[in-house]
Amino acid sequence: MAINVIPVKPANSQWARLFACVFRQAAKLKTCPAIEDFSGKNVLITGGSSGVGEFISSALLDAGAQVISLSRGVSKAKNNLDNIYAITCDLAKPEAIVAAVEQLNGIKIDLLICNSGVVLNKYHTTPNGLEKTFAVNVFGHHLLYRLLIEKAMLANNGRIIITTGEAYLSATNCLPDRNIYKGFEAYGASKLGNLWQVLALKQHYPKLKTIAIHPGVVASGFGGGSKSGVSHWLKSKLLISEQQGAQAALIAATQNLPNGAYWHNTQGLMKLAEHDIANDADKSAELWQQLETLASPWL
Ligand SMILES: NC(=O)c1ccc[n+]([C@@H]2O[C@H](COP(=O)([O-])OP(=O)(O)OC[C@H]3O[C@@H](n4cnc5c(N)ncnc54)[C@H](OP(=O)(O)O)[C@@H]3O)[C@@H](O)[C@H]2O)c1
Repeated sequence: MAINVIPVKPANSQWARLFACVFRQAAKLKTCPAIEDFSGKNVLITGGSSGVGEFISSALLDAGAQVISLSRGVSKAKNNLDNIYAITCDLAKPEAIVAAVEQLNGIKIDLLICNSGVVLNKYHTTPNGLEKTFAVNVFGHHLLYRLLIEKAMLANNGRIIITTGEAYLSATNCLPDRNIYKGFEAYGASKLGNLWQVLALKQHYPKLKTIAIHPGVVASGFGGGSKSGVSHWLKSKLLISEQQGAQAALIAATQNLPNGAYWHNTQGLMKLAEHDIANDADKSAELWQQLETLASPWL
């Protein structure tokens, strides 16, 4: 069964859009139809052993895919993921990404899911001088798909899914460093960067299919948070489970969405206004150029 992919115009106001992310989220969630046989397909996912990623991996493993997960191995899985192939890789370290790609030994990747993401309360920089949210969420994934493309390891009709989020609405730019640090601002900026990466990938590699997703506001390990009290109670009422959070990626992995699509977990295929910052082609090209310069020592 195929899912409805008629584009939907989101609300004009940023606040209405953010409210729509949590209001009756579970009731409005779009669920992925039964996944057809995925055997013989190689899936590479970042952060595929925990959080939302664990449930994306387990559904694809159940459908017969070979799933390889890249992560630091710090966050723990809720369930046993039999058959997943885990490679230790810190996306904040370019050398670790290069080594992880080497370990793949030239296999063809049919589906790459750029799922890992961090939001950090404190300012950190990586050894190569990048602010860490940018380094993990944006640059690490750029280096990963560019290495795979450079080594002809992405299948000709391969798919790339990049996990963004409606937090991008709070941002106006995506920079490798910032003078004044606020964790959520840096996070929103990285998610805007993710949408610009999708725009640029569609332009540079039109034969691949690249899709951005908003997984929902999910009760995962994301951003830490208390395990009791009012905020915990509120979270349990408004947030969806990690399994529900996996549905957007599974839909993007298996359904016939257009190249460059942005899939929202409750609204479906988003038709963003031309003036939406996610559609800023100049800023997307500027970010791409900057990412290419940063990646050049490893490509
Ligand atoms: N949760 C939400 O409400 C929400 C909303 C919108 C978008 N998103 C996005 O959804 C994605 C998944 O988030 P989640 O909710 O599942 O969060 P999570 O439970 O915190 O999982 C994050 C994943 O990223 C991996 N990771 C963290 N730092 C890494 C690094 N330096 N290198 C490689 N992997 C790293 C973690 O594995 P290790 O710790 O083992 O490395 C973990 O598997 C993220 O991109 C996030 O921005 C989440």
